[in-house]
Order: sequence, then structure tokens, then C-alpha cells
Amino acid sequence: MQKQQLAQIGVVGLAVMGSNIARNFARHGHTVAVYNRSTDKTDALIDTHGTDGNFIPSATIEEFVASLERPRRALIMVQAGPATDAVIEQLAEAMEPGDIIIDGGNALFEDTIRREREIRARDLHFVGAGISGGEEGALNGPSIMPGGTAESYKSLGPLLESVSAKVDGTPCCTHIGTDGAGHFVKMVHNGIEYADMQVIGEAYHLLRDALGMTPAEIADVFREWNSGDLDSYLVEITAEVLSQVDEATGKPLVDVIVDAAGQKGTGRWTVKAALDLGIPTTGIGEAVFARALSSSLSQREAAQSLPAGDLGQRPEDRAEFIEKVRKALYASKIIAYSQGFDEINAGAAEYNWDIDRGALATIWRGGCIIRARFLNRIKEAYDRNPELPALVLDPYFTEQVSDCLDAWRDVVVTGVRLGIPTPVFSSSLAYYDALRAERLPAALIQGQRDFFGAHTYRRVDREGSFHTLWSGDRSEIEA
Ligand code: ATR
Repeated sequence: MQKQQLAQIGVVGLAVMGSNIARNFARHGHTVAVYNRSTDKTDALIDTHGTDGNFIPSATIEEFVASLERPRRALIMVQAGPATDAVIEQLAEAMEPGDIIIDGGNALFEDTIRREREIRARDLHFVGAGISGGEEGALNGPSIMPGGTAESYKSLGPLLESVSAKVDGTPCCTHIGTDGAGHFVKMVHNGIEYADMQVIGEAYHLLRDALGMTPAEIADVFREWNSGDLDSYLVEITAEVLSQVDEATGKPLVDVIVDAAGQKGTGRWTVKAALDLGIPTTGIGEAVFARALSSSLSQREAAQSLPAGDLGQRPEDRAEFIEKVRKALYASKIIAYSQGFDEINAGAAEYNWDIDRGALATIWRGGCIIRARFLNRIKEAYDRNPELPALVLDPYFTEQVSDCLDAWRDVVVTGVRLGIPTPVFSSSLAYYDALRAERLPAALIQGQRDFFGAHTYRRVDREGSFHTLWSGDRSEIEA
């Protein structure tokens, strides 16, 4: 028997993220089919939030598929990995040509590429969609990064755009590129988020240990920074976390939290992909390693007796040093984003995705964790030059970094003198100096490689490959 009303979208998997996004669709006037393997979650959603809008609950996947209008659009919100594969298979079995399966989980982009190929062979569409913003974003407007075919986006895009965050009326959702493009950029987004959090952490560490400021004082500094170039969700919540006082002890909460940072893996994926693509995302890499180091608790405990050497003096002028740290943070952040966008560019070239980096910056302005005023500047940079070789080469960003440069060098030196680690501040500066260097010691490395492995080298003055007969008369031959 035909159901009277059909749903425009269906959600499979009604844990927190799935329920929230289903509620978000319903609140925007869409009829939403909902299904969860165990019916208790479906019942709980309808009992607690059924008044949010029109839901069609189903107890079986077949019933769920039958309750969708065609082309059917089913958004999977279950655990990444085998659970996602199992649900895809169930949906694909029940669906008909032209229907669309969307994976809104945090899948590895290579899995998405594989799944899209397999599902396409069955005349269905498969869209891997990165969804950022956590539980709150899923309910009130996330940033959505869908991959898959342009054809599937025609049918799916308006629905996703309707529930996404909006900035100046523009939806934080756009078609990113084919197959795994959406999950790839979501992965890099998370990697950038790691770097962004780490630079904030380094600024905090310097203000705390170089100036001896209290968390509450540092919270005020971050609050002030949040009204300038650094205006962002992460800086805003940093001030909140630093102001929080622990009820049990009366101490700042940050002082009773174990200083071992966790990670779910997307930062690591970003670095692995960057290594495969040959892109130096040093900021993200250092941020991932900094979390790993922080979590090596037994090693850190054993190392506490290691000598520090002679440490230098603390900065004398507090206000001046705070401003220098702000500049070091800002410049390091520009570099980390520049590197992240390089990785996206390299991924696009490798996997044939036509990614508009300006559009990407646009949809990251709202809904997601790295949302910031700064992303407007990135969008403008790619509007000026869509082929920009590196973000830091855009005239605006070049000027910004140049304005921060002296302070940045000073802050890194101060960190080194006081034994305060600044892995992203300092590696970003090293990256910047290497990028702008006229000559790098890579020439020497090529010489070494030629010496021990006859790997050959190119010359600055002639075309071709050359080898020096190192164990012979040391004359040069053309290879
Ligand atoms: P959370 O950690 O908040 O529970 P999650 O782990 O991301 O969220 O996702 C859990 C969801 O994946 C649940 O909806 C779960 O269904 P159940 O409520 O029945 O456990 C769903 N899920 C996990 N494995 C699944 C599978 N093999 N088939 C179908 N759904 C599955």
C-alpha cells in the first residue's frame, strides 16, 4: 500500500548526530524518514522531539526506503567503517537506479572513493559528505562538505543548504567535487583545527610561563583578541575554558584537567595524506605530534628530571610581549592554513577534483569549529587569484605576516630561551624562512645522495641529469 506522505530525506542512525540532523531537517519543514537498527533510538526521537516537524519512523530498512520520495535521499549517520558498509549494502539492496546514498560520517576519503565506485556500478549515487560542527552544529546548522556527482548535488544540494549554517545569508554548504572530495576537505578541515588549537595552546603556554599570568588574566587577553583579526570560535571558547573555576577545588579548571590531549584520528589522517602527497603541512604535523607527546605520560614523568640548561630572563614589558604573542599566533595560523589549502590543492590535482578553494573558505565561515572572521580574508584572496600558489603569497596575507614577523621571531627566541616549547610557532617560522629562501641546503643533500647512491643531480646552469664519479677521478658525467 502506498504511504500517503513521502519524505524528502531519510536519516539512518539516530545516535546524537543523526537525531540532531534529522531534527534540523524537520525544523526546516522537510518530511524526514528515520530509521535506526535498534528501535529504541527511533522511539526516543519521536517521543522526545516528534513535535519538531514531520517524521516518518520505520522499523525496517525496506519500510524506510519505501517512505522516501524519488530520487530517494538517505543520509547515513552511523559509525565509520564496517557499520557504514553494512548500512550502505542494506540501502543499496532496497533502492532503485538514480537514488542517492549519503554518508555523513567521518569516513576516510579513500573509503569514500571506493564506495562511490562500487555504488555507481549499481546505478545509484553515493555522496560522501563531511559534516562539521559537532552535535550543536548538526541541530542548528553545520558546515556541510558534500562530494559525489554534480547530478546528485542538484537533487540533494538545496536540502543540505537549507539546514546548513548561514553567514550573511550564504549557506555553509557547497558541492566540493566528485567522489571523496567532500570527506577529503573535511579531513583537512579537522587537521587545520588541530593546528589552530595548538597555536592557541602555545600562546597560552607563553603567557602563563613567560609572563606568569593567571588563567583568568589570559582569558581576558583572548577575549580582547577575539575582537580583532583572531576573531574565531576557537579563541572565543578558549576564553570560556580559561575562565572556568573548578567547583571541587576552587582552582582554575584548566589546572585540574590532565594535560594529555586525545585524538580521534582525523588529524593523523591529514598528516598521512600530506606525506603521501608530498605537501609539508608542518603546522598540522607538529600539532598532531604535540598531542601525542602530551599523552606519553609515563615517558614525560620519567623525563621530568632532565636538565633545562641556563634559561634566559622573562620579558620585562608585559603588554608588549602579549602583543608579540598575538602576532606570533596570527602569523603561525596563516601559515598553518596556507599549508592546509596546499594539501587541498594537491589532493584535488591527485584525484581530479575541481575544488574551488574560495568557495571552501566561504562555507567554513560558519557552522564548523574553525569558523572565523579570518576565512573571509581567505575567500577574498582566492577571489583575487583562484590559482594562488600559496595563501601566504596573497598580497593581504604577505602584508599581515610581514607586520607580524619581528614579533614572531622574538617570541620564538623567547620560548627557546625560557625552555617553553612552541612547536607550531617555531616550525611555521622555519617553514616561512625556507619557503622564501633563495637557496636551500637541498643542493648539499642532492650531492650526498649522488655520492652514496648515484641518484644524480640537476645543475643550475644546464639541462639534464648529472653524476660525479665519486669513487673514481671525481669528474662529472651526464647521466
Ligand atoms: P554514538 O557514539 O553517539 O552512539 P556512533 O557510534 O557514531 O554514535 O553511532 C552509533 C549509531 O550507529 C547507532 O545508531 C547504531 O545503531 P544502534 O543504536 O542499533 O546500535 C549505529 N550502528 C552501529 N553499527 C551498526 C550496524 N552494523 N548497522 C546499523 N547501524 C549500526
